[in-house]
Amino acid sequence: MGEKILVTGGAGYIGSHCVLELIEAGYHPVVIDNFSNAVQGEGVVAESIRRIEKLLNTTIEFHQLDLLDRPGLENLFKKHTFAAVMHFAGLKAVGESVEQPLRYYKVNLTAAMNLIEVMQTNNVRNLVFSSSATVYGDPTRLPIDEQHPVGGCTNPYGKTKFFIEEIIKDQCKAEKDWNAVLLRYFNPIGAHSSGLIGEDPQGIPNNLLPYVAQVAVGRRQCLSVFGDDYDTVDGTGVRDYIHVVDLSKGHIAALKKLKENCGCKVYNLGTGKGYSVLQVVKGMEKASGKEIPYKIAPRRGGDVASCYADPKLAEEELGWKAEFDMERMCADLWRWQSMNPTGFTKSTTS
Ligand code: UD1
Repeated sequence: MGEKILVTGGAGYIGSHCVLELIEAGYHPVVIDNFSNAVQGEGVVAESIRRIEKLLNTTIEFHQLDLLDRPGLENLFKKHTFAAVMHFAGLKAVGESVEQPLRYYKVNLTAAMNLIEVMQTNNVRNLVFSSSATVYGDPTRLPIDEQHPVGGCTNPYGKTKFFIEEIIKDQCKAEKDWNAVLLRYFNPIGAHSSGLIGEDPQGIPNNLLPYVAQVAVGRRQCLSVFGDDYDTVDGTGVRDYIHVVDLSKGHIAALKKLKENCGCKVYNLGTGKGYSVLQVVKGMEKASGKEIPYKIAPRRGGDVASCYADPKLAEEELGWKAEFDMERMCADLWRWQSMNPTGFTKSTTS
């Protein structure tokens, strides 16, 4: 049996894709999730995890557990010897975080603190953290490398990513046997090529690709393009979209890095290429064969014109780089969306 890896938030979009890659790479993931954003399947297993079990013909240890449940977490660490932890769990809606800052700070920071403390007392010293390019705020230069100043983001969600990064960095400084890899994601999209797992936002999607995919499948009528007067190729916002399977492979590379007793390391996970909103819409029209109606709407508060990575460091130090192009990202997203028009729930209401 491979090394045991604790995956928090492992039923969610990125977590579930990483669980799949972990198994394929020979690891033994133990998954926890509190269902705050993931769909529960039969029994107490998340539907995403149940589908990975089917696809890979395996069983996955899953626990419904909230990281705020300290005794529950301590019990889990008593039962298992984890080689490392991958921490994905957290609240992640930007707009909601502006309206409910205390909830975001309390949940995301307390969850991270509980996890790190319980790791410390149980001698688990290897951590991969799901951070975000949002920590860079409005970029002062492009492409964005890891030396770019951080802490400039304006919403509480983004600040929790920044604060947790700082906490982990300080812990690694204080305890020399700690190793952590902080992965700053650009914009993860797409789905596993099986079409069995993918992104399933609850309610109206905040992010571009889930919204576009729901328009293509007939679940929503029209996309609002937030601003067409940015200083970009066609006036719409430019982002570095990265296939979620490429992103997940970056996490496997990070686990290998921890083995080198690397201390605290920070890597961008992006492709280095920027696409505008309208270019993405074209890509999804091609993949789906559907017209995607859109209208130009006012800019969204807090958005930046352009954001894309310099991904060189991850290639040099992790031996990882993104392989899938925009066409493949759109094709895989469309397969997931068309096979699962209402996501993981079978109901026809949305
Ligand atoms: C957003 C978050 C970021 C978070 C990331 C992953 C904001 C300001 N930033 O990044 O903190 O880490 O998601 O969850 O919310 N767009 C439209 N119409 C839509 C939706 C989006 O035109 O209905 C545009 C946006 O203006 C932007 C681009 O599409 O130019 C990408 O937006 P989105 O998918 O929300 O990602 P980010 O804003 O980059």
